[in-house]
Amino acid sequence: MSDVFILAIESSCDETSAAVVKNGCEQVSNVIASQIKSHMRFGGVVPEVASRHHVEQITQVIDEALKIAQVSMENISAIAVTEGPGLVGSLLVGITAAKALAMAHQKPLIAVNHMAGHIYASQLKEPLRFPLLALLVSGGHTELVYMEKDNDFQVIGETRDDAVGEAYDKIGRILNLPYPGGKAIDELAQQGQDTLHFPRAMMHEKHYDFSFSGVKSAVINTVHNARQKGEQIKPENLAASFQASVIDVLAYKTRQALLEYPVKQFVLAGGVAANKGLRRVLSTMIDKEFPDVMFSVPDLTLCGDNAAMIGAVAYSHYCQNRLTNLTLNANPGLELTKN
Ligand code: KG4
Ligand code: ZN
Repeated sequence: MSDVFILAIESSCDETSAAVVKNGCEQVSNVIASQIKSHMRFGGVVPEVASRHHVEQITQVIDEALKIAQVSMENISAIAVTEGPGLVGSLLVGITAAKALAMAHQKPLIAVNHMAGHIYASQLKEPLRFPLLALLVSGGHTELVYMEKDNDFQVIGETRDDAVGEAYDKIGRILNLPYPGGKAIDELAQQGQDTLHFPRAMMHEKHYDFSFSGVKSAVINTVHNARQKGEQIKPENLAASFQASVIDVLAYKTRQALLEYPVKQFVLAGGVAANKGLRRVLSTMIDKEFPDVMFSVPDLTLCGDNAAMIGAVAYSHYCQNRLTNLTLNANPGLELTKN
């Protein structure tokens, strides 16, 4: 088969992105227009503002991705787009652009699950080896996913309340850190100690589900109590204590899952996969305790939302002729299943 070039589009939340991906493993271009500055003053993503930004950016971002890749529409094999999960208004902008391009240029259209994209971001570095276990940690999701083979997702555990990234961002807000709080808390945590020993919810329960609302409330209550009493808590110790609680739970559940599911590869994925502490603890644990399991985590720029990861998933859809058509609609609550 000759080389397959996929033009991929991602607009599920607050990043407008387009990429050209070659054979599912090589990012030829990956343009990401972030809206973080616009949402910062609100302390979170405002859906209506996000949609408007996508509308303003999408054409330019797609043109730039094609220009950087030095590929014309003629050489594009298929167009891929995020179907969900995400914000409906944001998703619709990318989907509408993808459908228009597919129709105008008579190209096959491929619908991609955003969370599958986070897992397949690792394929842009090295081929995925099945069976694999993925820990998906983002602003909206926290899931342990077992994949026996390509395009076969079994969610073995997930959060019952807040996603990890959500907890980071809410605590960031309480500490008056810039939005999104994850990166800033991670940096603070590197300078502090776990002096506060926050709870590790559900850690020893015999399932793979998570709960992070308890630790989030414990941190917020600690801050409020200290403020009322006029006491000082070192923010770096608060950040380190929160991060230690989160990482302990994620690492413990991951270890248990790796004991039950023998896999060839472990993939850490999603925006929170950029977390320095989490990357260090999981890679050390896996190297030491599971030397036959390959540890993979995408490069920092590919941990957050981007279109190259959508192109990586789309390649396997393309090879198996799993195409969609112009009736494609946004699916804000799309779950990870086979398709
Ligand atoms: O995957 P992503 O870019 O968007 C969603 O699909 O949700 O994830 C964004 C999340 C935010 O909650 C952000 O605070 C978090 O990833 N994040 C981090 C770090 N960098 C980004 N959380 C912890 N440590 C980081 N270094
Ligand atoms: Zn994401």
